[in-house]
Amino acid sequence: ALRGSFAPKAQKPNLRSQYGLQIQGSYKVAILGAAGGIGQPLALLIKMSPLVSALNLYDIANVKGVAADLSHCNTPSQVLDFTGASELGNCLKCVDVVVIPAGVPRKPGMTRDDLFNINANIVKTLVEAVADNCPDAFIHIISNPVNSTVPIAAEVLKQKGVYDPKKLFGVTTLDVVRANTFVAQRKNLKLIDVDVPVIGGHAGITILPLLSKTKPSVSFTDEEIEELTVRIQNAGTEVVEAKAGAGSATLSMAYAAARFVESSLRALDGDGDVYECSYVQSDLTDLPFFASRIKLGRKGIEAQIPSDLQGLSEYEEKALEALKPELKASIEKGIAFVQKQP
Ligand code: NAI
Repeated sequence: ALRGSFAPKAQKPNLRSQYGLQIQGSYKVAILGAAGGIGQPLALLIKMSPLVSALNLYDIANVKGVAADLSHCNTPSQVLDFTGASELGNCLKCVDVVVIPAGVPRKPGMTRDDLFNINANIVKTLVEAVADNCPDAFIHIISNPVNSTVPIAAEVLKQKGVYDPKKLFGVTTLDVVRANTFVAQRKNLKLIDVDVPVIGGHAGITILPLLSKTKPSVSFTDEEIEELTVRIQNAGTEVVEAKAGAGSATLSMAYAAARFVESSLRALDGDGDVYECSYVQSDLTDLPFFASRIKLGRKGIEAQIPSDLQGLSEYEEKALEALKPELKASIEKGIAFVQKQP
């Protein structure tokens, strides 16, 4: 069975309609950076979730209109808007899941690391507020460079004395979504059936799709492996170039982030069969943070799945060794950024 899928999961018997006459949702979700390219479609998709009772939208500008607009959808959740630092604390009170897509996106020619200087500060400030107001929440980091912003968030939470590594996630779902799409197209498979784990990190060669672990089992030629791996690694850049200066992936990203939110809510709600790939504190390799498949439960990460890393193909083994120095440097850069501050 396809696990952790966003849309096609059968609804529970009491969930009569997504456009609900019945209010079933009991979870509170906050989006920080909600007026942005990702934030807006993500807010719409989360507004459609039957599991959500409250949707708090935060941004430094333009969020009032987004919230007013969304609040007219006749789905269960109540939408509230919060603008600027003075309202951030209130936005985060009693929240179960915080999603952070705040920050600047890439323009053509930029790497994700080029965003570090701006986004590192944004993530640090926002996670400080999360630590102060909803330290028990699941935290989903979308802001790039994810390879560094997740270690930044971890350091901030440690300094505040509230770090729970089971509840801090770098969102790499888009890499899985892309891998599934490209493999299904290439091999003529039914999209809904395809599941490719993606491990490592979320930038360039640190994105490592494990094509040998594709479900349903399928064989690839060496050329197909090379071509698909490189396309999955560069898919973000494909979008950045097509948008030609107008930003990076927003719609597919919102779709992927909504799937990860929905999976988290299902786990919080007691579903015992929720698996996703995510970039998290990890002991699967010698790197302190690593993306892999995880099992989600009520308290966050219930288990990391080491079997994905066993029996890799020779191509994958080599790619895994090759990505480690870059990922290590990005992790250290994030940690140093927080530790160096007075
Ligand atoms: P955008 O520029 O359209 O939106 C960003 C939003 O963040 C804006 O509304 C802005 O006002 C807000 N913002 C800026 N500073 C803020 C602060 N201090 N507090 C709260 N909000 C603040 O950018 P877009 O396209 O939505 O991308 C957002 C981030 O997501 C970028 O860093 C981008 O690189 C990253 N991204 C991550 C992906 C992933 O797979 N993890 C995929 C695509 C993008």
